Amino acid sequence: DKGAYPYYMLKEIDEQAVVARNIAGHYYDEDGNLQGIPCAVTDAIEEADRLYIVAAGTSYHAGLVGKRYFEQWAKIPTEVHIASEFAYDQPMLSEKPFFIFLSQSGETADSREVLDNVKKQGFPALTLANVMNSTLTREADFALPVLAGPEIAVASTKAYTAQVLVQAILAAALGNPGFDLKAELAKVAVEIQAITDEKETFKKIAEDALVGQHSAFYIGRGLDAAVALEAALKLKEISYIQTEGFAAGELKHGTISLIEDKTPVFALLTQSKTAGLLRGEVAQVAARGANTIVFASENLAKEGDAFVLPQVNELLMPLLAVIPAQLIAYYATLARGLDVDRPRNLAKSVTVQ
Ligand code: F6R
Repeated sequence: DKGAYPYYMLKEIDEQAVVARNIAGHYYDEDGNLQGIPCAVTDAIEEADRLYIVAAGTSYHAGLVGKRYFEQWAKIPTEVHIASEFAYDQPMLSEKPFFIFLSQSGETADSREVLDNVKKQGFPALTLANVMNSTLTREADFALPVLAGPEIAVASTKAYTAQVLVQAILAAALGNPGFDLKAELAKVAVEIQAITDEKETFKKIAEDALVGQHSAFYIGRGLDAAVALEAALKLKEISYIQTEGFAAGELKHGTISLIEDKTPVFALLTQSKTAGLLRGEVAQVAARGANTIVFASENLAKEGDAFVLPQVNELLMPLLAVIPAQLIAYYATLARGLDVDRPRNLAKSVTVQ
C-alpha cells in the first residue's frame, strides 16, 4: 500500500533511512558486534583468492560500489560482472573463486544462468537478495537478506542502497574498515533522511534542468563514476531522457562532442583524490555551453554547487550521492506526465534471458 504517496517510487525513496537502520539492527547486536553472518559464509570467502560479483542493472551498479569494500577492507581482489555477459563469455577465473550474486528479486534469469554454470563447475556461491526464498537464494550455497522490504516500483531505489549497505557490512565482517562502521552507518541513516527532506530542491532542479531536454549526463570519478551509472539508469528508465553515466575522464575521449547549449551535466563530487580533476571537467563542459549541476560533499563543496551532500566517510558517500539522483529521476518523470512506477517496456523482475 502506498498510503499517502502518489507513487511507490517516492515512498521507497523515503524508506531508505529506515531501511539503513533496519539493516544495522539486523547485522549488529546491542554491543556493536556483527551478527547474522554465519561463520560458514566468512570461512568459505576466506578460503577464496578472488570474489566475483555477478548481477544485472541496478544490482550490478551496487556491486561496483561493493567491490571497493571487499578490496579495501577485506583485501580480497574483486571483479564485478554483468550476468548476461558472464553467462556466455565466462572470463578466465582465479584458482579459488567465490561468487556473490546480488539481486533484488532473486529471480533474474541472467543471474540464474550464471549460478547454474558456476554450480556445475563446483564453485561456492552466496546470494544477497531482497526477496528471500527466491530461486537465487535457494540454489546458492549461502544466502543473506538485503532487508529493503517489498519494492514495488519498477525503478529500484531502496534495494540499491540496501545492497550497498549489506556488502559494506559483509566486507567489515571479513576485514577491517579502519573506522567504526556501525556508528558511521547510523550517521548515514540520519543524512539520507536529511536529503530526502529536501524534495523541493530536487523537484526544482529536475524541472529547471530536464523538462524539454532530450539528453543528459552524469559524470564522476572513482566511486562517483559507479554512482553516475546508477543515476543515469534511474533517470533514463523512467523519464525516457537519454542519459549517459560515465567516468568523467572519458569525456575528452569522445563524449564531450555531444555537449550542446544547455545540455544538463550532473557531476557527483565526493571523492577527494579526484575532486580537482573533476572540477576541471565540469569547467570544460560548462565552457561548451552545458548546464552543469554539481552535487558535492561538504568537504569538497564550492560556491555555486547545486546541492551540498552531508559528509560521511568517503567510501560510504555513494549511499548519499544516489539519493538526489533518485529524486531528480522521480520529479523529471512526474513533470513529463509519465507513470513513474510503471515505465513502458519494463517488468519488475526479468525472468527471461
Ligand atoms: C532498474 C532495475 C533493474 C534491476 C535488474 C536486476 O531500476 O530495477 O535494472 O536492478 O533487472 O534485477 P534484480 O536485482 O531483481 O536481479
